[in-house]
Amino acid sequence: MKMRRHRVFLLCTVGLCVISFLHYYKALHYVSLLRELSAPYPNIKSFIMVTGFFWRERDQHVFLHQENMVSSHLTFKSLGDLHTRTHILQDDKTPYFVRTKAGALWGPVPRARGGKRLVKCVCRPGWHGPYCGVPTMVYHSNLPTKERLTPRETPRRVINAINVNHEFDLLHVRFHELAQAVDLFLVCESNYTAYGEKRPLSFLRLLLNGTYDYIRHKILYVFLDHFPEGGRQDGWIADDYLRTFLTRNGMSRVVGARTDDVFVINDADEIPAHEGLVFLKLFDGWTEPFAIHMRKSLYGFFWKQLGSLEVVSGCTLGMLRDVYDGDGIRLRRREYYTMPGFRKYENDTGHILVQWSVGSPFHFAGWHCSWCFTPEGIHFKLVSAQNGDFPRWGDYEDKRDLNYIRDLIRTGGWFDGSLQEYPPTDPKEHMYAPKYMLEHYDRYRYLLENPYVNARAPSER
Ligand SMILES: *[C@@H]1O[C@H](CO)[C@@H](O)[C@H](O)[C@H]1NC(C)=O
Ligand SMILES: *[C@@H]1O[C@H](CO)[C@@H](O)[C@H](O)[C@H]1NC(C)=O
Ligand SMILES: *[C@@H]1O[C@H](CO)[C@@H](O)[C@H](O)[C@H]1NC(C)=O
Repeated sequence: MKMRRHRVFLLCTVGLCVISFLHYYKALHYVSLLRELSAPYPNIKSFIMVTGFFWRERDQHVFLHQENMVSSHLTFKSLGDLHTRTHILQDDKTPYFVRTKAGALWGPVPRARGGKRLVKCVCRPGWHGPYCGVPTMVYHSNLPTKERLTPRETPRRVINAINVNHEFDLLHVRFHELAQAVDLFLVCESNYTAYGEKRPLSFLRLLLNGTYDYIRHKILYVFLDHFPEGGRQDGWIADDYLRTFLTRNGMSRVVGARTDDVFVINDADEIPAHEGLVFLKLFDGWTEPFAIHMRKSLYGFFWKQLGSLEVVSGCTLGMLRDVYDGDGIRLRRREYYTMPGFRKYENDTGHILVQWSVGSPFHFAGWHCSWCFTPEGIHFKLVSAQNGDFPRWGDYEDKRDLNYIRDLIRTGGWFDGSLQEYPPTDPKEHMYAPKYMLEHYDRYRYLLENPYVNARAPSER
């Protein structure tokens, strides 16, 4: 009796699979045909429903794939060798320092004139030191070696590594903020969400359609095509693995790197200010690893949080290789001095190495904008979140509700029902948001002003 029930169940399952496969196949066929005729997709909805049936999160599916599913197959084909190409690092010939007649070096930014007679360099506001090359965020940092900083003849190259999911607005901001300071962006995208489900290669698609052409020559595309074993049960495994893969795969494809070049790894919602990285590029004498103090905010820059977020984010390529075994996640953890290679590496550099931080809790050296999306983007982040950071709010239907999410943005509340304390903010304050956003205020208004609070009269500001 029991056997028979099993057999029936098995048959039903197989049947369902076959039917769904046929539907899927047919839909795909139909859709690509339609695409060629560049007509709208009348059957796209039923297609989603059919495949969506087998997914744990149907609403995610609809949200995610409505537009992307069709082209993700096409995009994938156009991947070509993009994910295996190498990048040759070039020396940066930009004359950052200007040599004056008297032989002095002037800072990396156009400097203010101190009168006709060049008696004393007058640095531009925000830059300090004998070479006008130390930005305020370093000047006020805890760097223990400020006295022995010397400008380099040849700048270091800076490599910035990130994993992307759907932070496309912030990505433009990063690229514009760091276009001068960074020589190469390693951008990793996976066809799996951090939760282990299929996701379209949305970044690749934008990369291919010209969205990032202004910075294309500085982007190395890293493609993670598998999901780590155990990542579904323990989300932290998946989370760490993203950084490991990004660093190992990305760096293995960089040609011409030197041990004193700089590696900086960020989450997509952490944007370093360019001044800090320009300093690292142009000077010798700082120690490592270094962290970055970032201004913290939630849902947008309007909900500023107290203090700063201080994340260990960078070191030289020599240290990355010899101490961290080429693994970016180890860098983000703080225990560099327990790493097996550390003592030897330190001895080899001839200096005592102490971790320091660019910026301070009062002089931000970047921005961490957490959950900075439209309500739809937050919804997507909820359902694609890794399985380990509990509670996993994406598992609760009421927390995924767009009206509920809008209300969180309005009040600055959190999914657990709590409200935080936020200091007042003003878009005009120093380091409120990256420059590119402020310069494109309308486009980024949803992150610069609370969209769900009635605009206050200017007098109340
Ligand atoms: C991800 O891409 C790899 C490589 O093409 C492929 O083998 C794998 O099936 C893909 N996974 C999903 C979920 O699409
Ligand atoms: C690329 O695709 C995106 C998303 O479909 C679209 O919004 C954008 O306008 C496209 N960009 C270009 C340059 O075609
Ligand atoms: C430390 O460095 C010196 C030379 O700089 C070398 O002779 C010595 O063997 C090194 N010690 C260790 C433990 O690596």
